[in-house]
Amino acid sequence: MSNGKSLKLWTVNVISIIIFVILCSTGLINWLVLPRGYEARGNFLVSLRHFFIALHEWVGLIFIVLIAIHIALHWPYIKSNLKKYGIMK
Ligand code: HEM
Repeated sequence: MSNGKSLKLWTVNVISIIIFVILCSTGLINWLVLPRGYEARGNFLVSLRHFFIALHEWVGLIFIVLIAIHIALHWPYIKSNLKKYGIMK
């Protein structure tokens, strides 16, 4: 693998893990910690919840794009394995 490609993969992977941690924390905090609906009325935590939902959704979108780039960068390897195991001609 060329140096340029390795650097791209490394960068995509490092950003992906950071983004994955943000996704896990915003998803789990919203689900398990922050109050919902009536419980949260008049409370600043409801704004935090809305902020986390928006963050989770946008970061989720970025994560999908990063995974697509990750797969594209590994495409020659994936293709050679698909051929090796007879899944692709
Ligand atoms: C591509 C990645 C992801 C996308 C596109 C995505 C998208 C979403 C969306 C649209 C919701 C609903 C938010 C709402 O209430 O409007 C949600 C909820 C949730 N997500 Fe994710 N998510 C992703 C990854 C993750 C990961 C990695 C975790 C790991 C723990 C996670 C945990 C959760 C949890 C626990 C909820 C429920 C929150 C609640 O009930 O309040 N998500 N996600």
